[in-house]
Amino acid sequence: MGNSLRIEGLTAGYGSVRVLEDLSLSVGDGETVALLGTNGNGKSTLIKCIMGIVRPTAGRIVAEINGTDHDLIGMEAHDVVQLGIALVPEGRRLFPKLTVEENLLLGAYRKAARARIAESLEFCYETFPRLTERRAQLAGSMSGGEQQMLSLARALMTTPSILLVDEPSVGLSPLLVQTVIGKIKELKERFGLTVLMAEQNFQQAVRIADRGYVIVHGKIEFEGASREALADNELVKKLYLGL
Ligand SMILES: Nc1ncnc2c1ncn2[C@@H]1O[C@H](COP(=O)(O)OP(=O)(O)OP(=O)(O)O)[C@@H](O)[C@H]1O
Ligand SMILES: [Mg+2]
Repeated sequence: MGNSLRIEGLTAGYGSVRVLEDLSLSVGDGETVALLGTNGNGKSTLIKCIMGIVRPTAGRIVAEINGTDHDLIGMEAHDVVQLGIALVPEGRRLFPKLTVEENLLLGAYRKAARARIAESLEFCYETFPRLTERRAQLAGSMSGGEQQMLSLARALMTTPSILLVDEPSVGLSPLLVQTVIGKIKELKERFGLTVLMAEQNFQQAVRIADRGYVIVHGKIEFEGASREALADNELVKKLYLGL
């Protein structure tokens, strides 16, 4: 009854501009996989292909949800969400004029999630105590770190089997990055959630990833089979640590 993701030979772009080129990767059941890459290398494009927001021109995307395979190519974004795949988008995309709680409730629109709204809310408030204190505050008036927590919590309100997180560290102070990344680690450890996380913050990503891939110009240039293998790789050192 696993939840996993398999991407094979994916090619995608915008108009005549090709961004992803014959890209393959996988995320196993309960794994946290980091997709590392600097600006403009195709991380968000890959995540948008999985969510049905960008249409690939070739390749396969298969999501195994509770042991059953689903071919995601051609599916609409709302159907991908209904299957049990949630996205924490780049830039958070909250409803700034709605309260914390209203944002969370809107996250529960998935059919399977609606019956469990009370339970999910309780879970979110327990996982993110800061949101409990601020449940009536307008989302737009919260700090960057709080907004990132809310975006993560809102995705969890869909009770997903697979979570896609697009650059959770952007715009946050080092301390808040640690807190947000720590929460993702907690979700993995407590629930065995299957996570694909795009990140530029190599050191933080490697702290929680089981393994990872480095994407350069839309191609996987390196596959690290373990956290250690990623951290030791020469390409990774060159790209991220300037060594
Ligand atoms: N809607 C779009 N139309 C045209 N080109 C786009 C569009 N979205 C992205 N691109 C281009 O595709 C390439 C990859 O962008 P993408 O957003 O996937 O990169 P990324 O790795 O997520 O970068 P970042 O770390 O800055 O978020 C870039 O050259 C970008 O300009
Ligand atoms: Mg991006």
